[in-house]
Order: sequence, then C-alpha cells, then structure tokens
Amino acid sequence: MNSEIKRIGVLTGGGDCPGLNAVIRAVVKTAINKYNLEVVGYLDGFGGLINNMAKKLTVASVSGILPRGGTILGTTNRDNPFKYPMIKDGERVYVDMSDHIMDNLKEMGVDALVVIGGDGSLSIAKEFCDKGLPVVGVPKTIDNDLSATDVTFGFDTALVTATEALDKLHTTAESHHRVMVLEVMGRYAGWIALHSGIAGGADVILIPEIPFEIENVCRKIKARKVQGKKFSIVVVAEGAKPLGGEMVVQKIIEDSADPIRLGGIGNVIGEQLEKCSGMETRVTVLGHLQRGGSPTPFDRLLGTRYGAHAVKILMEKKFGEMVSLRGTNIESVPIAEAVKVLRRVSPDSDIVFAAKSVGIGFGDE
Ligand code: F6P
Repeated sequence: MNSEIKRIGVLTGGGDCPGLNAVIRAVVKTAINKYNLEVVGYLDGFGGLINNMAKKLTVASVSGILPRGGTILGTTNRDNPFKYPMIKDGERVYVDMSDHIMDNLKEMGVDALVVIGGDGSLSIAKEFCDKGLPVVGVPKTIDNDLSATDVTFGFDTALVTATEALDKLHTTAESHHRVMVLEVMGRYAGWIALHSGIAGGADVILIPEIPFEIENVCRKIKARKVQGKKFSIVVVAEGAKPLGGEMVVQKIIEDSADPIRLGGIGNVIGEQLEKCSGMETRVTVLGHLQRGGSPTPFDRLLGTRYGAHAVKILMEKKFGEMVSLRGTNIESVPIAEAVKVLRRVSPDSDIVFAAKSVGIGFGDE
C-alpha cells in the first residue's frame, strides 16, 4: 500500500476495558499535532471496516474522554473479517471479507491502521499486515494475558475493582462468620485473582495455573476456624479447575474469535465448601463490573504512552509490531510474538511465593 502515510484509521476490537479512550485520545492527538496526519475512527471493531462505518476524529472530538470508561468507537468480540458469518440460502456460511476491507480502505484513502485489541484482534491485525496493510497494535485486556508486554492497560482498573470488592466482602464475612467466594474474570490466566487476592487479603486464591483439590481448600478454612478466624475469603478465577478436572464453561459464542465463555466455578466451589466446612457460604460473581468504570491513573498513563508510541512506530514503518511495556520503558515487538502464547502465572514466580509465604492457600497442598 501507500509508502507515505497521510491518513490513518484506528479501531478498538474485542472486549472493552478501561483506558481505551485514553489510547484513542493519544493516537488522535499525536497523529494530528505531531505528524500532521488525518485520523478516521472505525466503529464497532472490524465490523466498522467491513461496513465502512467510520467517522473523522479531530482533537476536539477526543476532548474530555480521558476519564471515561468503555470506548467512544464501540467494539465487538465477534466480527472476524477473515471468517465473517453470513446467511446464504438460509444457511450460515463464513466468508473472507479481507479483500473487501482492503478495497474500502483504499477508497477512503486510509493508508495505515492502529488496532487496539487483545490476542484475537491482534491476530487479525497481523493477518492484515501479512496482506500488505501497514498495521500496528496496542495491547489491551483486563486479563493481562498477552506475551511480549509486562502489562496490558485495563488490568490495573480491574484489579482495583476486584480488590474493593474483597474489602467489602471482608466486613460482611466477618459479621456473619461466613465463607465468601468471589469469582473474578481472567480467562485462562489467573492474574486478576492472584493480584487482587493478595491485595485484598484473601485466605485462598484459586487460579487456572495451579489446579486445586477442594479438600485442601476446606482444610485451610477449618484450620482458620480452629484459630478463631470464623470467616474466610476465597478468590476464584473463572478459569480455575480442580486437579484432573475441567474448567466450567458458561456459554459458547460461535461467531467469536475465542468462542468459549468461562464462568460458574464460584458457585460450584461455594456449594462444595459449605458442605465440607459446615460454614454458611455465599458466592459473588464480579463479572463485567471489572470491565467498566473510569480508568485508574496507571491505566490512563499507560494508555496515553501506548497511543502516542503506536503512531510513532507507525511513522517509523515498524509495521506488524505492537507497543509494549518492558520494565519502565515503552518498546515495540512483533505482534506475532505477543499472540503466539498466552502469558500465564508461573507457579514458581516470586509473587506466588510471596502469597504462600503470608499464608494464602492455593488448594494445591
Ligand atoms: O477478555 C476479557 C474478558 O472480560 C474475560 O476476562 C472474560 O472471560 C470475557 O472477556 C467475557 O467476555 P464477554 O464480554 O463476551 O462476556
């Protein structure tokens, strides 16, 4: 495509998360103020590219959006342009719309694209790059499960929400002498559960990376009771699973790049714990509260740094790369590296060691 970049497109794909607007704002302001580019925002993720739903973004149109949750562009975790669902002769078929998109972009004079997304959207971005479209990526997800970056924006805000929930559950658990189970998101990675569990003073943290045995969890709760602690707080990641068992799937969304939606393990564990501990147990599923609300200062700052650097690497023609945080520096890495393998909690990490050292159980011993 064009060797000179004059007009760029930006879109948000996949599940939303706090900080998306901070990235959009930084992309628009950097593109216009620093590189004198025009910016077009595509609506509702890759669906906007397919249906040419776009709007011109100016400095004025991104004014005031920094503290706002969600995305002013809209998003979806369904429309994969390389496998786009359509009804033909009454049957659902999957069509490759990528050439149609390349034509649309050419027609609109859009020379390059900034894709803000998680592993699903970034994989699609990479496929477009392989087709010759200049694309760069910005890593987003509350799950913090992308390789090649130390942190994704959105994670910190989700962590604050989960930690606040644990603080609140503590007071009512203590009053009623109950076991409180909090189910948090995170897909196949236990980052939200692990970090919020430590920050929120949980007694047990169950994560996908460390399969648990319910007997071990129960023993821990009973031991606390014997020590005079008449309540317990259990944080369970939606992807946690018993040793030799499976994750609990809540639903399958066929059109989605990752069709499996996890959820329900909290209730399973809650019932088991009530039976084996003899203590009244209640379950809270935190759900999409973790994805909503105003981003924390950390996520606003990271989102701004990511957005500004995404435009910078685009102008440096580092196509197919993604901005990433390494230590305290913003760098760029091939998108392929980031989507190759999920970043998951290592059971041998210092953070798990610290958690175990302060007495938190993981149900593995
Ligand atoms: O990837 C972000 C995430 O919130 C996961 O933690 C969760 O499993 C999933 O998205 C929920 O997806 P949906 O919004 O489709 O219910």
